[in-house]
Amino acid sequence: DKAGHKHFMAKEIAEQPGVIGQALSHYLSDAGDILLPDAGIDFTQIDRITMVACGTASYACLTAKYWFEQIARIPVEVDVASEFRYREPPIPARTLAVFVSQSGETADTLAALRYCEGRAQTILSVVNVPESSIARESDLALPIYAGIEVGVASTKAFTCQLTVLFLLALKAAHQRGVLTDEALADHVSALRGLPSVINAALEKNNEIRDAAQKLSHAQDVLFLGRGRMFPMAHEAALKLKEISYIHAEAYASGELKHGPIALIDENMPVVVLAPHDTLFDKTVSNMQEVMARQGKVILISDSDGLADASEGVWATIEMPRISEALGPILYAIPAQLLAYHTAVAKGTDVDQPRNLAKSVTVE
Ligand code: M6R
Repeated sequence: DKAGHKHFMAKEIAEQPGVIGQALSHYLSDAGDILLPDAGIDFTQIDRITMVACGTASYACLTAKYWFEQIARIPVEVDVASEFRYREPPIPARTLAVFVSQSGETADTLAALRYCEGRAQTILSVVNVPESSIARESDLALPIYAGIEVGVASTKAFTCQLTVLFLLALKAAHQRGVLTDEALADHVSALRGLPSVINAALEKNNEIRDAAQKLSHAQDVLFLGRGRMFPMAHEAALKLKEISYIHAEAYASGELKHGPIALIDENMPVVVLAPHDTLFDKTVSNMQEVMARQGKVILISDSDGLADASEGVWATIEMPRISEALGPILYAIPAQLLAYHTAVAKGTDVDQPRNLAKSVTVE
């Protein structure tokens, strides 16, 4: 049942404030403590984290790397499962292995998990389907409470994965004594406000649809982001490829001049994800290099960012302001809606894109 929406994907995008709220209510006590099921996990006994997943779930891992490293000060390695499993990497003692999967049945991710059995200290999974193989074979499985996701393009599962991974990073940081009670309380209060901030982002639907209308004529699109926005650039590019069949690539903004800037001309739209944070000025200077070469820029930022840097850009999308740490969860919304409206403008099959399956149970 699409609940009045044209596509499951549209319904699932709209459900995000509600399901993120659900996930938060399962993992946060009224007093703001982070609750993990069973015995949880002792992060003081962990020296490093290896995260493994495929597709969108792997971008959730790449985002979480920033949180675990910056907030909890734990080194993190992220790999896609199809590479990890055949590389047979050494797994040092005191490694936590984390597997992220919506379906919990992705063949490569399951094989990577089995490789870590008996090697990693603890196997933890973040899944949407609690009865899945990946959940059953883990020492600890954290459900994301996104509800059934029908659209092949993952949307609400992604933001719920991010929410649960962020909570886990906070838990780790607090246990390890690198996050004070006050700082934890600040993060928790920002998290509690996330559903309403996401609602405000969803209200930018028309603005995003107008930008998508422009993108729908492109052959190729480049997505740029720095820091926490770099994984989000990847996610935005994957969403666009997957459902609109437009070729899209993501680059770390700072990599632009190491090659991809050669592609820039008036036919190459470049989507820049740049909240007004500590890295904003750097990203904007890369964006200006694009515009100096006649590249057409769609800038996604907040009111401060747009006030500073929207001169001469092709289109803007204004996001609400948000804490720096939670930026990626919010910026997933315009990434999803941009892909969605571009696909609708092109008339492609949004919920069942060609050649794709919801769950990839063969390698
Ligand atoms: O069920 P999983 O989360 O393990 O699936 C992983 C990928 O196949 C999946 O995220 C895929 O990339 C999506 N179609 C992206 O929208």
